[in-house]
Amino acid sequence: MIEVTAAERAAWAEQLANRPSRHAGAGIGGHEHSLAPGGASESDIEDEPTEPVDEWDLASAQVFAVASGKGGVGKSTITANLAAALAQKGLKVGVLDADLNGFSMPRMLGVQGAACKSEGSIVAPEAHGVKMMSLGMFTTGQEAVIWRGPVMNRALQQFLTETDWGDLDVLFVDLPPGTGDVAISIAKLLPQAEILLVTTPQLVAAEVAARAGAMTLHTHQRVRGIIENMAYFDLPDGTRITPFGEGGGTQVAQTLTKQLGQPTELLAQIPLSDEVRKGSDAGIPVVISDPDSAPARAVQTLANLLVE
Ligand SMILES: Nc1ncnc2c1ncn2[C@@H]1O[C@H](COP(=O)(O)OP(=O)(O)O)[C@@H](O)[C@H]1O
Ligand SMILES: [Mg+2]
Repeated sequence: MIEVTAAERAAWAEQLANRPSRHAGAGIGGHEHSLAPGGASESDIEDEPTEPVDEWDLASAQVFAVASGKGGVGKSTITANLAAALAQKGLKVGVLDADLNGFSMPRMLGVQGAACKSEGSIVAPEAHGVKMMSLGMFTTGQEAVIWRGPVMNRALQQFLTETDWGDLDVLFVDLPPGTGDVAISIAKLLPQAEILLVTTPQLVAAEVAARAGAMTLHTHQRVRGIIENMAYFDLPDGTRITPFGEGGGTQVAQTLTKQLGQPTELLAQIPLSDEVRKGSDAGIPVVISDPDSAPARAVQTLANLLVE
């Protein structure tokens, strides 16, 4: 765990809020909006043209945006595990926690508080070999983040352009659920991001996931494939049960293949497991804590598939 005191965080936030951004009007460092949650603007996101980020170090990185229809299906858990799995293989990996209202990457990767700044860049803290940037490192305590779309857009832009990511091989973007402002911003900022769509086997999750995937008809991003999480649970006696039903991942893949007019595959089925949940809470992804377990193996296979 990287420990940073509340005072250090507050000082850093203050410093950022008073520093002009490289991007005019950008949120975190801009003058219009302070870093403190609650800043909001009435203007619609479409009023502010968002250009793809071009002045950053990530030109050669493969970018994956982890998306879903519903919340709680395991996007963040899978992001943390995929990132840690690829870092273990020796790749240079970053994670942008784009779930600004509901950030969970600091907890799941075991990073607390802020990193330092160096030569004008934000230094992303590293955990399990993964560089991570999250709004969680700018907030103190448990206050709610209440931001409207344009402010979120600026914050994401700044996380991407002002973080010293180094020359990453892979960047994962952990999205909030659905097709809201953040998903639109990321699609504009990172048009090259390939979408990994997470669902559970349950019909209600699958239907919403397919709708979220269909957003790419408008954003023109590539759906790299579907990940079915919580696919099954193996009891100690070897019996396999399916608490969330079966078939959701396949259904999303079939629906999107039709809708998008290109083959969209089910890439992985990750089991429900106590170890996965414990790993999320402890900040040690299961691919690190128990690399030979079934969920870890499923994630490792998926990770290899993504970079092969
Ligand atoms: N395969 C799994 N087995 C057990 N628990 C899981 C699994 N995947 C996710 N979880 C747990 O489910 C909850 C929701 O997962 P999370 O990754 O936060 O979802 P999302 O980011 O889609 O909202 C978390 O508490 C997480 O630890
Ligand atoms: Mg999440």
